[in-house]
Amino acid sequence: MRWDVSSPNMGSCGHICASWRRLLVLFFRLVFLVPAGLPVHSQGDSQTDGKVMDNITVKQGETVFLRCAQGGDIVTRTAWLNRSSILYAGEDKWSVDPRVSLVTFNQDEFTIKIEDVDVTDEGLYVCAVQTSRRSRTTSVHIIVQVSPIIFILSKDILVNEGSNVTLMCQASGKPEPSLSWKLLSPSGDLASEDEYLDIPGISRHKAGTYQCTAINDVGSDVQTVEITVNYAPSVSEGRDVGVALGQRGVLECQVDAVPEAQFEWYRDDRRVFDNLNGMQIENIGQLSKLTFLNVTEADYGNYTCMAINKLGSSITSFVLYEIIEPTSSTLLQGPGAVQDGNNGSQETRVHTVTCLLLAVIYQFLLWF
Ligand SMILES: *[C@@H]1O[C@H](CO)[C@@H](O)[C@H](O)[C@H]1NC(C)=O
Ligand SMILES: *[C@@H]1O[C@H](CO)[C@@H](O)[C@H](O)[C@H]1NC(C)=O
Ligand SMILES: *[C@@H]1O[C@H](CO)[C@@H](O)[C@H](O)[C@H]1NC(C)=O
Ligand SMILES: *[C@@H]1O[C@H](CO)[C@@H](O)[C@H](O)[C@H]1NC(C)=O
Ligand SMILES: *[C@@H]1O[C@H](CO)[C@@H](O)[C@H](O)[C@H]1NC(C)=O
Ligand SMILES: *[C@@H]1O[C@H](CO)[C@@H](O)[C@H](O)[C@H]1NC(C)=O
Repeated sequence: MRWDVSSPNMGSCGHICASWRRLLVLFFRLVFLVPAGLPVHSQGDSQTDGKVMDNITVKQGETVFLRCAQGGDIVTRTAWLNRSSILYAGEDKWSVDPRVSLVTFNQDEFTIKIEDVDVTDEGLYVCAVQTSRRSRTTSVHIIVQVSPIIFILSKDILVNEGSNVTLMCQASGKPEPSLSWKLLSPSGDLASEDEYLDIPGISRHKAGTYQCTAINDVGSDVQTVEITVNYAPSVSEGRDVGVALGQRGVLECQVDAVPEAQFEWYRDDRRVFDNLNGMQIENIGQLSKLTFLNVTEADYGNYTCMAINKLGSSITSFVLYEIIEPTSSTLLQGPGAVQDGNNGSQETRVHTVTCLLLAVIYQFLLWF
């Protein structure tokens, strides 16, 4: 038995064919027991064709079918090979891989399938057919694509304002995924178009949720990192408050701070405590309220709110001053109303002036 392996057009199909042919010789020697020493040379009526099929591109985990046309001739020998190993020789399974199985085997077609394809399966597969007249090979390249998976990602971080921050994101996948960073909230802006995101001298406005996206032809992976930026408190300026004797008065102190600030209240230099001397202190998140349940003469004065966190503190002062209660509006306002100094005292003055004016006119009219 002799096998033609050297064909005149071998140069045109390059190394793959050449090495494949060497393989094929080995294979057929093994299968058909050609003595190794026997010279292999061409014979007039026998030919070998090498056909290269289009590449097959599959996603990792999918099933791939390897189809080989038998040409309708009387096939004497046929086999599917993965590199140097025989997967199937005719109907006989040589591969021990349970993912490989026979689909069709007849005069026209020889098809096997590989289930749950992985990246290691990528490569050249060859179907070798020997008919009574010729031997023929069909080779096909399997390309396995893998959806991206982010495998390195910066941890959530907590930094002080002004720090230099670098986030990193790395992903695997085939083809090589492209990476990008964006700030999800509040802005949604694209922050970087590669695996690194540099934020020099971070400000409080750059705090938020950052998203890394890894994307390729077959899929994407998305992960997020939280950046918390700490900064010292800043309290908004206090507004003086005028309250009538016996009324309820409230001083409100609003702060902006991360982490959340602790509040302290002072009357001049003395600390003011909750539920002492008719005062209550209530802290709701970023707001602290100092409430006078029933303002007395001694309550009028200068109050200071101090907000403190580990990065610093901030103060603001308020003056609680007396206003003369307008008799008519007392009923309307009643206890519980927070009175605004300027507004209240102006109203009072206008009201008093109007009353006086009416009284004078009335007196004047009575004279006549
Ligand atoms: C098939 O894939 C191989 C390896 O990636 C490549 O070298 C070759 O050009 C591809 N052939 C076709 C026809 O796409
Ligand atoms: C093909 O050969 C490669 C390398 O030996 C191996 O890793 C892979 O599992 C084989 N695939 C099949 C389907 O036989
Ligand atoms: C941040 O980086 C700049 C230059 O890139 C450097 O001058 C500065 O000292 C760094 N700041 C901190 C807090 O590391
Ligand atoms: C406020 O205090 C005064 C004097 O102690 C008292 O007469 C008045 O009833 C109090 N008012 C309220 C609303 O508690
Ligand atoms: C109130 O007290 C603060 C702190 O002691 C001081 O800076 C501020 O000038 C005072 N305000 C008034 C109106 O006296
Ligand atoms: C006066 O009070 C009214 C409501 O009572 C408020 O709408 C207005 O803004 C206040 N004016 C000033 C100058 O605070």
